[in-house]
Amino acid sequence: MATRLRTGFASISAPARGVLVIFADDGLRLGSAAEGLLKPAGDLFARAAAADGFKGKNGTALDIVAPRGLKASRLIVVGVGKASDLEDFVKLGGAVMGRIPKSATEATLVLDLPGGPIKPDEAADIAMGMELRAYAFDRYKTKRKEGEEPPPQRRLTFGVANVQGARKAWGDRAAVAAGTLLARDLVNEPPNVLYPEEFARRAAALRKLGVAVEVLDERAMKKLGMNALLGVGQGSRRDSRLVVMRWNGGKSGTAPVAFVGKGVCFDTGGISIKPAANMEDMKGDMAGAGCVVGLMHALAARKADVNAVGAIGLVENMPDGNAQRPGDIVTSMSGQTIEIINTDAEGRLVLADVLWYVKSRFKPKFIVDLATLTGAIVVSLGHEHAGLFSNDDRLSDRLAKAGAATGERVWRMPLGSEYDKLIDSKFADVKNTGGRFGGAITAAQFLQRFVDKTPWAHLDIAGTGFSSPQTDINRSWASGWGVRLLDRLVADHYER
Ligand code: BES
Ligand code: MN
Ligand code: ZN
Repeated sequence: MATRLRTGFASISAPARGVLVIFADDGLRLGSAAEGLLKPAGDLFARAAAADGFKGKNGTALDIVAPRGLKASRLIVVGVGKASDLEDFVKLGGAVMGRIPKSATEATLVLDLPGGPIKPDEAADIAMGMELRAYAFDRYKTKRKEGEEPPPQRRLTFGVANVQGARKAWGDRAAVAAGTLLARDLVNEPPNVLYPEEFARRAAALRKLGVAVEVLDERAMKKLGMNALLGVGQGSRRDSRLVVMRWNGGKSGTAPVAFVGKGVCFDTGGISIKPAANMEDMKGDMAGAGCVVGLMHALAARKADVNAVGAIGLVENMPDGNAQRPGDIVTSMSGQTIEIINTDAEGRLVLADVLWYVKSRFKPKFIVDLATLTGAIVVSLGHEHAGLFSNDDRLSDRLAKAGAATGERVWRMPLGSEYDKLIDSKFADVKNTGGRFGGAITAAQFLQRFVDKTPWAHLDIAGTGFSSPQTDINRSWASGWGVRLLDRLVADHYER
């Protein structure tokens, strides 16, 4: 079982239990509350710092076991460098969590800097960073090395100057952290467990938070004419699903914001089958859908003042006697016919119908879609930025700013008619691949044909959704990428 974190807030001068964490700047200065707590230890800190060469540089820490004079089992002094340069408190929280031994069941952090106590928002960010860092997907581990059994629960107490303020700020951050971890869980689950119906069941659990959830089965989708989506799933023994989630926290009657996710629960490539190497990673080909579910969780759990729609197309792309073939032509819900050139370019087929459905049914303010859509975006941008494609400069700028603020960064890529004509088909209205070059762009051009004039942004998260570099705030294969970004987009621009 995974360790549960229990987060609480107490007065900054309350006595510390378990592991005690304090902060020092690059002049080895402490905040006054931390200084007070260290009084009984005399010159312990100064001597230990000198002996260890600890200078308080950002990214370093001094670790003193069984500190004489203190009740704490351990004193960890985290260096922050120049305190006035501190900006990313989420990252700081992650770094702190990385210093606390996994076996510790209790830790107290004194949120105090030489310049004064850490503010409520920043305290909540630290707590969020710690939650994100502590996450491990170990549901399927039945064996442990001796001494490495994780404790069932770890208690974190934050000593803050403003307990009420910090608790309130943490309420919202906790919702966003939980949404991010939900997204990670969904993406980490193996594909024999998380197939479309099971994914739909997990999304339906959002009803507990007051989210309206509709699950459309294949019959319902057939009736709507969603043959592009259904064609992808037709080779699988598992039925496809469309899940529509609605959070109505805003003024009734105002147009919603909308999020659409690619939910390919496993992508073998279909008849255009993928090579064996790394194919197991394709259990994560539903990271876009996982993000949308995590985001809806976050918005509902923090009771966001917004009307939001989340829609995810859930399919499994398999080779089979009944699978879709290269050369097939399907009629999408929009009426546009699509020639299938490569059955491995399946994500855009799923999204075509979901985008059209969301646009026509909800007439949203905007649609942002997320998809692990192309290997080409990983070649272009690596794992540091998601590809951003948009028909709307304002939405695009807002996403870029939210990305810079959260560290879930996006990089805008071009769209244009020269790229668009690469997906004109000899036999149908459009074909599902555009050739070797500009692969992420022609995929986005394909999507754009299914959004009409709706302000729209497409995030290609093939490089960021899973298997991305390990950071201070993520040690999991699945990153939960996009939940914090889109929560921030909503919070900054679409709530009253
Ligand atoms: N799910 C893949 C893209 C992908 C690859 C995501 C690697 C994450 C890591 C997508 O369905 C796909 O197969 N795309 C093809 C498109 C091509 C056939 C036009 C690709 O990128 O090769
Ligand atoms: Mn594919
Ligand atoms: Zn795919």
